[in-house]
Amino acid sequence: MKILVTGGTGYIGSHTVVELQQSGYEVVIVDNLCNSTAEVVNSIEKITGVKPDFEKFDLTDPDRTKDFFERYDISGVIHFAAYKTVPESVKTPLKYYRNNLLSLLNLLACMKDSKVAYFVFSSSCTVYGQPDLLPVNEDAPIKKAVSPYGNTKQISEEIIEDTVKAHGLKAILLRYFNPIGAHESALIGELPLGIPDNLMPYITQTAIGKRSGLNVYGDDYNTPDGTAIRDYIHVVDLAKAHVIAVDRLLAGKKKENFEVFNLGTGNGFSVMEVIRSFEKGSGVKLNYKITNRRTGDIEKVWADTNYANKELGWKAEKTLDEMTLSAWNWEKAIQALA
Ligand code: NAD
Ligand code: WQD
Repeated sequence: MKILVTGGTGYIGSHTVVELQQSGYEVVIVDNLCNSTAEVVNSIEKITGVKPDFEKFDLTDPDRTKDFFERYDISGVIHFAAYKTVPESVKTPLKYYRNNLLSLLNLLACMKDSKVAYFVFSSSCTVYGQPDLLPVNEDAPIKKAVSPYGNTKQISEEIIEDTVKAHGLKAILLRYFNPIGAHESALIGELPLGIPDNLMPYITQTAIGKRSGLNVYGDDYNTPDGTAIRDYIHVVDLAKAHVIAVDRLLAGKKKENFEVFNLGTGNGFSVMEVIRSFEKGSGVKLNYKITNRRTGDIEKVWADTNYANKELGWKAEKTLDEMTLSAWNWEKAIQALA
């Protein structure tokens, strides 16, 4: 069983490749390395003892994608490859629509021509915006996207749904909440290029001295400590859900040909709770200050995970302390290599 993992040298993709290999799947990665490095392939081999096949090309290129499908016998596809930075997408929307939508269209067309039916897609809790009800379940209304990035996820979901109806594709869409942390080996993790936008890498980079201080964006939210709440999930828990999704598709266990699952822990933590967890595990006192809210941020969101727990037989296991400590161990490992 060979699984194509697009974006497999990236953050979530690399952790998923490890879990797939450890569950007995063969993997071929396609990545153009626009946000990752080929060294990740060696790190995966160090963890699993198996070097995944790796092809470097851009999935927005229809000819290269077609040529790939002609050379490989693929059982299913997990599609991670995309641009993912929200503020950058506001500044350069066409770059985001082009990359995220063309790569999806090329893939789906090649899958149709090569009769590859099984597809797992990286979606995001961003499609819910600020939900009316918490915890948010999969039936909650999709709110108008606040960023071009979020809109690419909404449009992608619609493209996949239409392809399922017309061409017999069988798809599982996974809506991730806030993935953080790194593999326990500290051989793979998140490698943000430039200044990170996300909380966890900003915390670890501040603690290690790459950034002078963390801004906490607002303490006047309607939450117990005034800082915003998210559902942080360990990337390894997230990766494991992808293996289950692939198993489910290949074993024909799905209920519908188009299924959507929330991937979170079901628990919300505030920014201050994440900082305290980090400080406790690392022993580092973090330099932070409270600033204004960040434009576009929602107040609070966490997942209703009942459907994923029941249907997939999957549950996130790792605690917030395990997440923040693993992120810190990864930051120290990068520092040691530099
Ligand atoms: P990442 O940037 O670490 O990984 C994405 C990988 O895709 C990178 O290695 C990049 O080089 C590659 N890529 C991008 N465009 C490509 C193209 N046209 N052709 C070939 N390769 C290409 O990102 P990640 O955090 O691992 O995210 C993976 C997926 O999960 C993305 O679709 C992202 O939108 C989604 N997602 C991420 C988060 C998050 O917080 N990290 C949350 C929800 C959803
Ligand atoms: C978390 C909390 C910030 C940085 C983003 C995308 C979303 C999804 C996940 C892909 C918020 C606060 C952050 C900092 C801070 N990605 N914060 N200081 O915004 O929930 O979601 O990543 O699909 O689409 O929007 O994650 O990690 O940026 O922020 O106080 O320096 O931390 O205000 O409350 P977010 P985040």
